[in-house]
Amino acid sequence: MFDTIENYPYLEYKNKELHLNGKTIDSVLSKKETPIFIFLEERFLNNATELEQNLKKSIPNLFISYAIKANYLGRILHSAKKIGLGIEVMSLFELKLAREAKIPNKDIIFNGPAKTTEELEYALGEGIENINVDSMNELILIEKLAKKRNMVQPITVRIHPKLDEKTERKMLIKKNSKLGIDYSRGVKLFEFAKKSENLNPVGVHTHIGTNLTSHNFYEELLEFMNKYISDLEKKHGISIENINLGGGLASKSTLDKSGFQIAKLGEQISSHISNIEDKTIIFEPGRYLIEDSFVAITKVLRTKKSWGRKWAFTDIGANSLIPMRYTHYKVIPQNFKGKGQYTNIGGPLCLPVDVLTDESVDFEIEEEDLLMVLNCGAYTISMSEQFGYPRPAVYALNQEKELELIKPADDIDKMVRESF
Ligand SMILES: Cc1ncc(COP(=O)(O)O)c(C=O)c1O
Repeated sequence: MFDTIENYPYLEYKNKELHLNGKTIDSVLSKKETPIFIFLEERFLNNATELEQNLKKSIPNLFISYAIKANYLGRILHSAKKIGLGIEVMSLFELKLAREAKIPNKDIIFNGPAKTTEELEYALGEGIENINVDSMNELILIEKLAKKRNMVQPITVRIHPKLDEKTERKMLIKKNSKLGIDYSRGVKLFEFAKKSENLNPVGVHTHIGTNLTSHNFYEELLEFMNKYISDLEKKHGISIENINLGGGLASKSTLDKSGFQIAKLGEQISSHISNIEDKTIIFEPGRYLIEDSFVAITKVLRTKKSWGRKWAFTDIGANSLIPMRYTHYKVIPQNFKGKGQYTNIGGPLCLPVDVLTDESVDFEIEEEDLLMVLNCGAYTISMSEQFGYPRPAVYALNQEKELELIKPADDIDKMVRESF
């Protein structure tokens, strides 16, 4: 048997044994303890370059900024910097991570609905050019801080667009969400910034959710954004340099499965946005770049049958594989031992939501088997908890196809000490 796994070019079965980039899991692991996460650096770089190349076919001025809330490990930031990605941050912690990775100030985008004075002082002091704002009170505070420094701060306003009711219902971030500001109040923020001697309104931003797989959605969004921007220009004399379309794309492998084409998205953008050559189109993807750039290796600790179901319990759990609404964890075996009874897979936590996938698997599973969990790079490590268990170690699979430790596992004795 020699089987590639559709949409995961780095994985294949040879003689029923799983290979990662051509190597067996045992040789990649070389006796490392499970559970571990593995950052597939090459996949991340490919995801980013493909995204950029496909969009650039139709967009003359493009800027892609990786949303580090999806996964903020330093190694990922270095990879992002290597290929010229910017970084989208939401807090002082993330701002300092971006600075530590030596991301240039002009390539950092600072989002968030309630930035503290300390965070804003730091951002202004460092010369962060892209500050996204969604409230008048924050804009007033930024103006005050910019005045004190005798500087002009560029400002982008995050709006919530007006979309069809049906589309709105499907969106994760709806108009009653705490994020963004309604588009007409947004105009007031632009007007305030335009009048101020210390603010310069340069961009419009919107971000309405995650896991998007629909070209129709972008059709609607782009139509609205273009109208909004031309109204700002014609009715209010405010010319916009940057259009930030946020993050929200589903992962590369989910999009490949769904038939969504990034090149077509580029065409949609260039056909909707007037005078696109005078604007910079910004994307701030998290999930698209990182979700399928991570796998986890986990060992089966226990199996049991109950109420007609078979269960397999792994040594990785929901404290790091966060059971959020948009997860696409997929479990495959190291050794394919044939079809078996449909089996549900759960983690070791004494917690009912600690179930790795909604769908059961139909391959044979025995205790001590190794399993690989796919699609576990987005909002897992960055949201992980010491909930009953230490957080697993994270390794990077480097260009030489060897594992390098990039974050050690939590130490249980240290966890105990820090709890007293
Ligand atoms: C403002 C902003 N931009 C970008 C992102 C990244 O979203 P995604 O991971 O869905 O691409 C987020 C995620 O919450 C966000 O809040």
